[in-house]
Amino acid sequence: MNYSEAVMDHFTNPRNVGEIENASGCGTVGNAVCGDIMRVYLDIDDDGIIQDAKFKTFGCGAAIATSSMATVLVKGKTVQQALEVTNKAVMEALDGLPPVKVHCSLLAEEAIHAALWDYAEKNGIMIEGLEKPV
Ligand code: FES
Ligand code: FES
Repeated sequence: MNYSEAVMDHFTNPRNVGEIENASGCGTVGNAVCGDIMRVYLDIDDDGIIQDAKFKTFGCGAAIATSSMATVLVKGKTVQQALEVTNKAVMEALDGLPPVKVHCSLLAEEAIHAALWDYAEKNGIMIEGLEKPV
């Protein structure tokens, strides 16, 4: 399988691995079929800006690379802008993924959405365009 240099870089040297204590929002998603799990933590300030993002992923190299890139992309963004960090945007930033690995990148998008939902719920707010994670 051919992985881009960016994927290999984020797989071998993932950014933002870890946890955030008392995170503003935390989301865990998984693929029930294979058992892969991804958890994303967001630290969001009073202006709704994502100050920090961390992740833990139990999954393949592509899942680790996409979680890493997704956390890099959401940092510094508003919660609204973070919705634009879709799996497509993450894949583009990684210069693509092999077709059989595209579904792994969905976990990253779903985990960010779940963390944003958790944040919105805790604060009693609505984020326009964000749907409740299943
Ligand atoms: Fe589990 Fe790809 S096989 S997410
Ligand atoms: Fe399971 Fe990618 S996360 S195959």
